[in-house]
Amino acid sequence: MRVEPIARIDGHIAVPGDKSVSHRALLIGALCDGEVRVRQWGRSGDTESTLAAVRALGVLVDEEDIDTLLVHGAGLHGLRGPEAPIDCGNAGTLARLITGILAFQEGRFELVGDASLSSRPMARVTEPLARMGASVSDTDGHLPLLIEGRELKGIEYELPVASAQVKSAILLAGIGARGKTTVVEPTPTRDHTELMLEAAGVKVRRKGHAVGVERANSLHLEEVLVPGDISSAAPFLVAAALLPGSSLTVHDVGINPRRAGLLDVLERMGVRVGVLNKRRIAGELVGDIEVTGTHELVPTWVGAEEVPRLVDELPLVALLGAFAHGQTRVSGAEELRTKESDRVETVTAALHAIGVRIEPLDDGFVVRGTPARPRGGTVDAAGDHRIAMLGAVAGIVSREGVRLEGAESISISFPGFFDLLASVAQ
Ligand code: S3P
Repeated sequence: MRVEPIARIDGHIAVPGDKSVSHRALLIGALCDGEVRVRQWGRSGDTESTLAAVRALGVLVDEEDIDTLLVHGAGLHGLRGPEAPIDCGNAGTLARLITGILAFQEGRFELVGDASLSSRPMARVTEPLARMGASVSDTDGHLPLLIEGRELKGIEYELPVASAQVKSAILLAGIGARGKTTVVEPTPTRDHTELMLEAAGVKVRRKGHAVGVERANSLHLEEVLVPGDISSAAPFLVAAALLPGSSLTVHDVGINPRRAGLLDVLERMGVRVGVLNKRRIAGELVGDIEVTGTHELVPTWVGAEEVPRLVDELPLVALLGAFAHGQTRVSGAEELRTKESDRVETVTAALHAIGVRIEPLDDGFVVRGTPARPRGGTVDAAGDHRIAMLGAVAGIVSREGVRLEGAESISISFPGFFDLLASVAQ
């Protein structure tokens, strides 16, 4: 498809429910005693994989509305092995988190995924789970995975990589394991799992970079209200920031401090960002984010400490850097190489193709920006939804537009992206 340049972005919008929280609401809801109503659930390719997975495990889920689900929890040990393998599709969060849960269920389970997910590392999850006594075998460190439910024991585990998915897999296994389970993180990552487990009645202890859970008897959650997804708001916020004269408010967005790193980066780069109407919903911070278009952006550096707070927004930081006079650098982000695509390579290729001066690093990239619209060109999404959204934003802020190959991958996280974009594009 072609994405034509626009002058500015104007209006008030809301984005679908957070993908990370939507996966967790289904997975943790499935383990609860009784009914859990999930409101503002973010429906997308990825979260529909999780919906299908919990159903395949015997959990009844009523779709009361497009974004309201009623999960009939099966209880902490109530999931049952289906005959067929569980298909995780493209969803890394599903594959990692469900492995921790199935490790202590009764029965045998097989997990598979699409080509992209099947090339992503799973040993980072199977190794710590094996230390807990789990029977989980991967295929050369990847999917397919075979899991046989076992009695687990708690461990203390130091994460070799800052990954919320790995932390979550271990903590979820921990609620079904004897004793205490503690995870120590090199850098704090998103804590949606801990917050939701706590809301469900699990004892969660935090100390410095460590977080621990105790074995649970049962989980109870009446309702989960999913905040808007800051990662889906991000392309709109960045587009508004890059187009002078823009004024955009995204309402009811999750601004969990461990997710909202993009807002700090925008401010450092000279963008006026306002957060209004801040409130807390079931432990998660929510607010309305207001961004105005900016004439001159200031380059910035993002390092390892900050990376987990905006890991999925780093492709957009590269585009911001293209408009900032001087050098913008992202480093300490080797994890980008293990996402839905190798995002060091795919971000570099996408921006290079539209005339941006960008070089890959082993663990990030360097952009040499100028305060002018890039030319435009052809961007290949490489099957990665975040690269497709990067290409779309690049198109509207370019001089000549972008021919976007693989735009359909956006439905993995945000099926209504282009309609929402059309509603605010001027
Ligand atoms: C996620 C964590 C991040 C992120 C992914 C969703 C989660 O991955 O990139 O899109 O829901 O926990 P890592 O934890 O592997 O960095």
